[in-house]
Amino acid sequence: MPKRSTMLEVKVVNLKSAKVDTLVVPVCEDREIHGDSTLKSLIDTAKSVAALTGKSGDVITLFQPASGSINRVVFFGLGKADHLNGEAFRSFAGKAARWCINAALPDMTLATPSVSELTIDVETLFRTLMEGACLGNHIFDRYKQDKEKEPLKAVVIMATGAQKKRFSALSESVAAVCDASLLAREWVTTPSNEKRPEAFAGMIQKAARSAGLEVGVMDDLWLEKKQFGAMLAVGQGSSAKPRLVTVEYAPKGAKKTVVLVGKGVTFDSGGLNLKPSGGLETMKMDMSGAAAVAGTLLAVARLRPAVKVVGVMPLVENMPSGTAIRPGDIIRSFNGKTIEIGNTDAEGRLILVDAMAWAIKHYQPDTLIDLATLTGACVIALGEKIAGVFSKDPSLAAAIVAAGQKTHERCWQLPLPDDYKDLLKNEFADLNNVSDGRWGGAIVAALFLSEFVGDTRWAHIDIAGPAWSKKASDYCGAGGTGFGVRLLCEVIANL
Ligand code: BES
Ligand code: MN
Ligand code: ZN
Repeated sequence: MPKRSTMLEVKVVNLKSAKVDTLVVPVCEDREIHGDSTLKSLIDTAKSVAALTGKSGDVITLFQPASGSINRVVFFGLGKADHLNGEAFRSFAGKAARWCINAALPDMTLATPSVSELTIDVETLFRTLMEGACLGNHIFDRYKQDKEKEPLKAVVIMATGAQKKRFSALSESVAAVCDASLLAREWVTTPSNEKRPEAFAGMIQKAARSAGLEVGVMDDLWLEKKQFGAMLAVGQGSSAKPRLVTVEYAPKGAKKTVVLVGKGVTFDSGGLNLKPSGGLETMKMDMSGAAAVAGTLLAVARLRPAVKVVGVMPLVENMPSGTAIRPGDIIRSFNGKTIEIGNTDAEGRLILVDAMAWAIKHYQPDTLIDLATLTGACVIALGEKIAGVFSKDPSLAAAIVAAGQKTHERCWQLPLPDDYKDLLKNEFADLNNVSDGRWGGAIVAALFLSEFVGDTRWAHIDIAGPAWSKKASDYCGAGGTGFGVRLLCEVIANL
């Protein structure tokens, strides 16, 4: 668990009288974006004595300025006012949190600009400021002896009386979603030696139980009894046996059920089709889909939407060994279809189809969404920051893409052309798990999945690119990004 979540408060602050330790003020280069007269005069002072310009990248500190009892004012340049969208405010708040952490400050008070000076709506402004501050206020130092830095204890978002009334509840829902994103990030960054299937199942179970959710952890004997042949085949090379984890949020009177399935390969070596070095080092992130699904359920437990939400997470380790599956092996999946293993590194689709076919039978969902770090090909197509979305249901695909715009967990729809299914034809089995060429790999993988969902309303989201980031960015440290938690919460809110 992240040590503690950010204390996030929407508050009316009178800058003439209130005691403020650190006031953080966004400033534009071309226009005044604040209405408060004290803020305006502080900005004027900083412009004249400290050459503040408001250009993007500007960071200037004033200590104990004349007015009020403010100890420190930090100005952040945001560039031109008309360019400011929600993502710009998320980035600003995240940068501000990280700056304050680096300066060893205990808290920060964010000066909210006046929306009458901006091109975005007030709800987006408050939401994104809170998200950036919460997500940026995070340090993953579990494996460091020296814990040099500490997250901020409190973040105050300045508001008018009316805004405080309107957005105090929003701070709780933002905290719910951001805490869950941060936990998902930590799970993804946790090394594979500490999150083998049984251990990772335990982590999910512990977090979900304390959130008041119903949790099931099924072991390999259960999987054998239920004939999860594809999932067991992937896991058979590892000394750590697979687990299937289910987490249920079932409010009274729910009329719809959505099932979320997350790929949980706790380490993907490729199996006997071993990945080359360069491909192996980050493969602890191959359980990011499961982390995002578990995180989404933790957030849902606090958000309490009116729909039933179920998370299903197949957890396996993909290893080469004397007991591993071999290329050419033919296996029988949960729904009865046989699959020839063309490549043991195409393991994600194998565990997903068993989990999805079982979830459809067991829960009869109205909507099924799977999230998976499924293909390098999707990263080739869309780069490291955008997920691929596949669905035969245009309204579901559109809802996911729209949620991606709102949350900036960006998604782009890719096609599911029927005639490409020929690529998965196999001489001996019902299907091959790969095609024999290298083109269109993300599509081929999605088409493989589509063979196991019947006519259930389904979407697949390939997060192989955005689940992990080598470098830190404004509101996300290096490592797991938690991609999918904010996206799925938004999709669920609009179902
Ligand atoms: N986990 C990988 C996909 C992946 C690649 C995720 C890079 C994140 C970054 C997946 O299991 C895999 O190995 N896919 C293969 C499929 C191929 C064998 C058809 C791939 O993408 O190369
Ligand atoms: Mn693989
Ligand atoms: Zn994989």
